Amino acid sequence: NASGAKAGKTRNIVEKMEEQGKNCIIFYGSQTGTAEDYASRLAKEGKSRFGLETMVADLEEYDFDNLDTIPDDKVVFFVLATYGEGEPTDNAVDFYEFITNEDVNFTEGNEPALGNLNYVTFGLGNNTYEHYNSMVRNVDKALQKLGAHRIGDAGEGDDGAGTMEEDFLAWKEPMWTALAEKMGLEEREAVYEPVFSIVEREGLTKESPEVYLGEPNKMHLDGTAKGPFNAHNPYIAPIAQSYELFSVKDRNCIHMDIDISASNLNYQTGDHIAVWPTNPGDEVDLFMNVLGLSDKRHTVVSVKALEATAKVPFPTPTTYDAIVRYHMEICAPVSRQFLAQLAAFAPDAESKAEMTKLGAEKDYFHEKISVHHLNIARVLDIVGKGQKWTNIPFSAFIEGITKLQPRYYSISSSSLEQPKKISITAVVESTQLPGRDDPFRGVATNYLLALKQKQNGDPEPCPFGLTYEITGPRNKYDGIHVPVHVRHSNFKLPSDPSKPIICIGPGTGVAPMRGFIRERVQQAKNGEKVGKTLLFFGCRKSTEDFMYKDEWEEAKQVLGDNFELITAFSREGTKKVYVQHRLKERAEEINQLLEQKAYFYVCGDAANMAREVNTVLGNIISEQRGIPEAKAEEIVKNMRSANQYQEDVWS
Ligand code: FAD
Ligand code: 2AM
Repeated sequence: NASGAKAGKTRNIVEKMEEQGKNCIIFYGSQTGTAEDYASRLAKEGKSRFGLETMVADLEEYDFDNLDTIPDDKVVFFVLATYGEGEPTDNAVDFYEFITNEDVNFTEGNEPALGNLNYVTFGLGNNTYEHYNSMVRNVDKALQKLGAHRIGDAGEGDDGAGTMEEDFLAWKEPMWTALAEKMGLEEREAVYEPVFSIVEREGLTKESPEVYLGEPNKMHLDGTAKGPFNAHNPYIAPIAQSYELFSVKDRNCIHMDIDISASNLNYQTGDHIAVWPTNPGDEVDLFMNVLGLSDKRHTVVSVKALEATAKVPFPTPTTYDAIVRYHMEICAPVSRQFLAQLAAFAPDAESKAEMTKLGAEKDYFHEKISVHHLNIARVLDIVGKGQKWTNIPFSAFIEGITKLQPRYYSISSSSLEQPKKISITAVVESTQLPGRDDPFRGVATNYLLALKQKQNGDPEPCPFGLTYEITGPRNKYDGIHVPVHVRHSNFKLPSDPSKPIICIGPGTGVAPMRGFIRERVQQAKNGEKVGKTLLFFGCRKSTEDFMYKDEWEEAKQVLGDNFELITAFSREGTKKVYVQHRLKERAEEINQLLEQKAYFYVCGDAANMAREVNTVLGNIISEQRGIPEAKAEEIVKNMRSANQYQEDVWS
């Protein structure tokens, strides 16, 4: 049970609450940082509005076999994201297995095992996935079954509909009312109390060796970084080569080969690689400027948590510049609640009123902020009409802005062919939005583009006025590098290469399919018998965004009739043609292959494409086998459970 406990750190939550004088613990199960953020926001609000003694806790860091001993004058929150195919997030796996285990038994006898436990739940999910919010639903069910008392509704936020934040805001008010009633709490005027102290370190400069300039941990600072490389410790990988797969008007697609030969990282075909991005220089500059920090950006600061249970989300001593550039998601959407909170620090009455209005009025906020994809610095700049917001304590940003998150990419190479080189295939995110002069740009993909341009000495490196720190802090890496780690996935080829496979990969959904097909080519070259391999690929035009065209011809030369590429060019004719239309045209053959136990793979857009492909496959099975739709859907479901139907999708 105590395995994994760090020296001097208890895994006993009851002991921890007593030791810290807490009556409210907020557990989070988070993959991309949003659930963790919501947990922190709830903790802060509980304390400032209701005087609750809150603490936020990572599910991974505690044991749960004594949940039954938490007294009923305390409350436990579970803020739980659902990941992928209805799975718990990495940090919640053990908790989930424990609490949903049929045999979990806290106490002997007839009393409900968790009869004393008061809890609150909020789930983060995406309705485009089949198992919408299944994590929080299953945990809630398990807790109910064990006799625990839920306070308020079991909240659910939907990322698929883009309403996560509003769902959260709408859920929490009645929950607080119910909680206040249950625990006899009085609401008070919320006063901002910083969670972190920021102390300027006069004796240190950014050249001092102990000062972090973006290095994620001590090993990186000391230049002794070693594995295991993971979500806490990236490998700073050299880029072997990078080039554009296509480039039309504002759309670019990057292929990048990342060299992991000098590390102990490994991967399997179908895994994901995480890229740790850096914020674009112009957004960092704006952020510094609007806060009046431009002159102090390289001032060295130590950041300390003022509460024993809070954690500084980056190593210090460091500089304001490094915090903002390497550790904060400063380009992300802004929350209405955060704007309401910052109103108190506005530079004048007019901007204070505007911030209050933005914070209070959902539709107004949507119209002024969301549709233009404004980030926090842009909002402050516009609302303050260029004035500097020097009154905001920097702690409010550390608390209110998500930690800069790695982005995942489906590996597009084969580990059999190149075990020490990982390929990425990424479309650069750049969208022209109404009411903005400049396009909205994605953080990681424009970072990858900048790396590619720098590496190739492109005549106009870093377009769009974006300037990036390319060589890492202190310019310590020779050549162009990118921080990465690998995440193993279940998206895998059949172990027997003679099995037929059907791959559906339009757009960047082709990434893992490229890995699969290169693997099959390599297997054939090694003398193995490779089965039928169908690739359905879709893009706009054969002359525009047809990725890896030459590679498919090479595959054909090795695999012969066993490989076929079926294309769907959506913008060449008068009618849209998508991969699922092509699939339907090949209904008879698809059905035959499925009857021969072909594996079926779908990668790319979760919102529409993956769902439509699923439906079409059901139609094909129903028609071809002369069975009712419902029966065919059942067959597709069973294919999924048997891993014969695998998805690698994102939205
Ligand atoms: P971000 O800056 O993260 O922005 C992404 C989106 O967030 C924007 O389009 C917008 O909708 C929203 N957003 C961001 N900021 C704001 C704002 N201020 N206001 C409003 N909305 C905002 N992508 C690939 O190209 N190839 C792959 O092979 C691939 N594989 C993936 C595999 C997995 C398992 C997952 C989960 C994702 C995969 N992705 C892939 C997607 C990839 O991880 C990134 O999400 C994508 O590249 C965009 O990243 P970014 O940092 O450039 O954009
Ligand atoms: P479109 O943009 O012309 O509509 C890669 O992005 C390809 O996927 C493009 O050809 C795109 O077409 C297509 N696509 C868009 N929506 C789709 C959907 N619902 N199903 C399948 N393909 C889709």
